[in-house]
Amino acid sequence: MIPVLSVTSECVPLVKTGGLADVAGALPGALAGHGVEMRTLLPGYPSVMKAQPDATEVVQIENYFGGTAKIRRGSLGEAVLYILDAPHLFDRDGSIYLGPDGRDWSDNPIRFAALSNAAALIAAKGLDGWRPQIVHMHDWQAALTPVYLRQMGVQDVRSLLTIHNIAFQGIAPPDLMGRMGLEPQGFTRDGFEYWGRISALKAGIVYADKVSTVSPTYARELMREEFGMGLQGVLSDRGGDFLGILNGIDEEVWRPPYKAPTGKAKLKAALRAEFDLPEANGPLCVVISRLTAQKGLDLLLDALPSLLGNDGQLALLGSGDGRLEQQYREAAARHKGVAVHVGYDEALSHRMIEGADAILVPSRFEPCGLTQLYGLRYGTLPVVAATGGLADTVIDANPAALARGVATGIQFHPVTAQALSAALEQLCALYRNPKVWARCTRNAMAQPVGWESSAGEYAALFEAMTAG
Ligand code: ADP
Ligand code: GLC
Repeated sequence: MIPVLSVTSECVPLVKTGGLADVAGALPGALAGHGVEMRTLLPGYPSVMKAQPDATEVVQIENYFGGTAKIRRGSLGEAVLYILDAPHLFDRDGSIYLGPDGRDWSDNPIRFAALSNAAALIAAKGLDGWRPQIVHMHDWQAALTPVYLRQMGVQDVRSLLTIHNIAFQGIAPPDLMGRMGLEPQGFTRDGFEYWGRISALKAGIVYADKVSTVSPTYARELMREEFGMGLQGVLSDRGGDFLGILNGIDEEVWRPPYKAPTGKAKLKAALRAEFDLPEANGPLCVVISRLTAQKGLDLLLDALPSLLGNDGQLALLGSGDGRLEQQYREAAARHKGVAVHVGYDEALSHRMIEGADAILVPSRFEPCGLTQLYGLRYGTLPVVAATGGLADTVIDANPAALARGVATGIQFHPVTAQALSAALEQLCALYRNPKVWARCTRNAMAQPVGWESSAGEYAALFEAMTAG
């Protein structure tokens, strides 16, 4: 078994703000059958400490980034979980990233420097009689690890950085270098310096042995100015060391209670009742999403007439941007075919995927995206922007795919309200043709969306990294 330490700022079932948590939570189990023993390092937020009351102290570190820290050993399913219990950094109510004012905690660079440094310490010295050969870092919060490994003189541990979202780069002012435990030699253009500031994500991209992101298309997109958010050059420089591996979903958690899409009828009626939507002849569409600019849901507001004009309906579950929340509430008040639930609700998200005909994901960029995969599994046809992982996972119902009987959803491009409108028209037309619709939904349900194939890709990568 190859020992791998996964370092992440979120992980289901303990703490989640987005898809990263699902991926970090699923990988250890998915990799166990592929010769990889993955253990996870996670900050000791209140939710984590509460859920792991029996986690035992393995080591105590004094003067650790401003206070005393402990590393505790708990469990994540069958796998080992290490918790960085540092109350001065992580014992705070509310969001794990944001303070009560809705802005990033001002010491976020320090908090996650401490996480990355703990990973490097475990890799350097081992813990618990166990020492990883590879550190698998997720996003900027873990990306400084290879810098600390270098500073500690560790040469026999490899590292993989997985980018889930390039929009967050862990930028910090240079005067924090000392408090972050970073040696100034690294503060150069080919190190962790980025336009005069510290960039944790850039550090990871530059120093990790391999860099990956969560779909092949997004890997290509990230090397373009349009998507790279300033890091396209640094990523391109990594050449063949930068790759895309698609996410999967947990097929136990997301298991449809029916064998064929026809089994939806009752669930759909229940969903309509729950959202107070009337019977209708068009498709019932859902959105389950963070409400941010990334997700393109402002475009859907403009494209709504194409859905409603065909007697289609929309039920949206989401939270985030206050203005979008308000606009959706207004849309629901104006149209009887629109219903909105502002909030975060996992049980409801399951009922929506089960009962709906289609799921809409009009993202401007989407590294992988998980909700379209849920849709596929439940025969809830995804209508997606042709970008990132959305482009890689949905087979567009174009004439060729329809003729061959392989379509599983609809892709649209460019990501504009106009193109989304056209896609919604197309969806409604498809829905009016029960035979073709049935074929597409059956195809969707048959498409593999679990971890099997991607776990194999990660395992092969880990093997290659440790060979020789
Ligand atoms: P991202 O990580 O960018 O938010 P993903 O599609 O990868 O996008 O993952 C989002 C995850 O969060 C999915 O599991 C989705 O079901 C869940 N999710 C997002 N918003 C909500 C919500 N309001 N209620 C319940 N689950 C949500
Ligand atoms: C990010 C991306 C999303 C991806 C998730 C898990 O939050 O926005 O596309 O599915 O990470 O990798």
